[in-house]
Amino acid sequence: MPKNFLSINDVSKEELLKLLDRASELKADLKAGKDQSHILKGKTLGMIFEKPSLRTRMSFEVGINQLGGFAVVLNTSEIQIDQRETRADISRVMSRYLNAVMIRTFGQEVLEETARHATIPVINGLSDLEHPCQTLADLLTIKEHFGSFDGIKIAYIGDGNNTVHSLMLACAKLDIKISIACPVGYEPKREFESEFSTITHGVGEAAHDADVVYTDVWSSMGQEKDAQRRKKVFQGYQVNKALMADYAKPTAIVLHCLPAHRGEEITAEALEKHENTILNQAENRLHTQKAVLEWLMKS
Ligand code: CP
Ligand code: NVA
Repeated sequence: MPKNFLSINDVSKEELLKLLDRASELKADLKAGKDQSHILKGKTLGMIFEKPSLRTRMSFEVGINQLGGFAVVLNTSEIQIDQRETRADISRVMSRYLNAVMIRTFGQEVLEETARHATIPVINGLSDLEHPCQTLADLLTIKEHFGSFDGIKIAYIGDGNNTVHSLMLACAKLDIKISIACPVGYEPKREFESEFSTITHGVGEAAHDADVVYTDVWSSMGQEKDAQRRKKVFQGYQVNKALMADYAKPTAIVLHCLPAHRGEEITAEALEKHENTILNQAENRLHTQKAVLEWLMKS
């Protein structure tokens, strides 16, 4: 049975910490100009995007290239999943060509179905339920900034979505406190809660004494039709100067998985002030992706 990375729960605490250490090492080696092309020499990664992407596409494609491998993008208009042939057949055939496949899709069950039929590792490049690759980059950014996770409090302001689900699972594994402020009815799913998470409807309560203030879009990919209504519901669930000054620690950082919608979940001012950290977070997608690819694909 191949290993998969469909959820943060697919890694143990030890594996999670090892992935972060390895990502730091790969990052340092890359910056030092060390050749990394022997690590996954000749290995092939398939990528299927059923939703748009910038960072995930770049981090996987640039990452596998730096490790000596090769990425094939399987365009959904060409492979026509469940129209031209079934997802199960596509999974079986991909397994004869590729060494791993990354899928960005809607339902988590799509990833699980692919994994059931594939004999190669399957990686979740974002589903409606989870975004585990993003969480690795978030954790690396926090670790780089604060040196460790000891005593860190994360505040997440906004929708109880894929991004926060994966983050909550990681917080439970690493004993990190996370406080989530969301409108009534937009809470994260119950199964992601732990003794380390609290859910509130007050942004001030969540952000109180936070070291990290995190936000994500009010409408995720696939929710575009509901965006106008959501804009009203989420008013006030915004990271801005007053929230940071009134509640978060003076040393707090702001994280955003990007893409960002200025004037909605975050102000242009807050984004600009914390741009360097947020860009480090985006860059860390590359280094953490490489650690994941090595972990799953190196024989
Ligand atoms: N953060 C993130 O996953 O970005 P993309 O949607 O651009 O891949
Ligand atoms: N929650 C967002 C994350 C984008 C990286 C979405 O699913 O669209």
